[in-house]
Amino acid sequence: MSAVLEKIPVIEDYLVMSDEEIYQRIETAREELGSRIVILGHHYQRDDVIEHANLSGDSYQLSVMAARTDAEFIVFCGVHFMAESANILGKPNQRVILPDLGAGCSMADMANIEQVEDAWEQLADIGVIGEISKVAPMTYMNSTAAIKAFCGRNGGVVCTSSNAVPLFDKYLKEYDKMFFFPDQHLGRNTGLKFGIPLDKMALWNPHEELGGNTEEELHEARLILWKGHCSVHGRFKPWHVDQVRKETPGIQVLVHPECMYEVVEKSDLNGSTSFIIKTVENATAGSKWAIGTEVNLVNRLQKRFPDKEVRLLSPDLCMCATMYRIAPQNLAWALDNLLVGNVVNEIVVDEETKKWATVALERMISFTEQNQDKKN
Ligand code: 13P
Ligand code: SF4
Repeated sequence: MSAVLEKIPVIEDYLVMSDEEIYQRIETAREELGSRIVILGHHYQRDDVIEHANLSGDSYQLSVMAARTDAEFIVFCGVHFMAESANILGKPNQRVILPDLGAGCSMADMANIEQVEDAWEQLADIGVIGEISKVAPMTYMNSTAAIKAFCGRNGGVVCTSSNAVPLFDKYLKEYDKMFFFPDQHLGRNTGLKFGIPLDKMALWNPHEELGGNTEEELHEARLILWKGHCSVHGRFKPWHVDQVRKETPGIQVLVHPECMYEVVEKSDLNGSTSFIIKTVENATAGSKWAIGTEVNLVNRLQKRFPDKEVRLLSPDLCMCATMYRIAPQNLAWALDNLLVGNVVNEIVVDEETKKWATVALERMISFTEQNQDKKN
């Protein structure tokens, strides 16, 4: 046993190890732990983490993978809300590890359960939610487990960027209105696909009375959008699209729907991280792509497809700093701890929250699977 493994491994020791040693430690631990662990990696993770993942995917695929695996430990290389969802969907004996607890999501932090409950009460007080008006709460996967549970308890659902369109279709048909948390951009971009005009979308600012709206505006709205956003995707501006088109005639612009509507409107295509990957995979050699999403994913596509021209939509580095906190050093440290029987950075959702969050997540998964079956 190596010097580090003679005692409980501490992260400080790992921060000074060479890249080769870290790589070797991760691979050795993976081999020793075998089927007891599964390492999941989101598409935004850096290459030196993704290379160790058993499975990589977008946030929807990773939640399904977490629900299906039998491994004792799910080591989640992603952000906090993804690890929470893995704990909610996983089996009771499974344990979920987030190699760096600082890997949060600034968008998910823009809505907390107290604010959401308060907003819901205000809407009920003015009769927007009531006997004659049915409002469906829908939350983006990028939200706390408590907000997912709130949706489960109130007849609502979770969505991701890969299934927002069919889920909006279903809930807009069944309800008078939808209240969408916390990403105003995904909500707005999806609402526009259903022909909801912008003046029928109210923006709810949790720091203002009635979210900063009049009673009339809220009664009139078909879609109420929580005022949250992704700071990474917020860096893509409409002028970036104009600029790349001017610089590179024939280039196609492909963006994530967390980008603001003015960017999505000017793009050729938009969709989840997996949709972005699939689109570039299927594109013809010589095609040119400007991509509006996280830089690690764009760089990986660039390397994988040297026969296609792939670039980031913006000249700035659009990096998700919290995803980037999961470094190989954290992964090696977490796995070496497992080797000595020590579970670090475990993510546990309390049972009551889990019960209702499961309802909202399972509604999403079963609907998405049925929808896929119909298409196949
Ligand atoms: P996907 O669901 O497309 O993987 O996106 C998750 C995310 O956090 C994008 O910022
Ligand atoms: Fe959250 Fe944005 Fe990072 Fe996605 S890219 S995890 S939405 S901060």
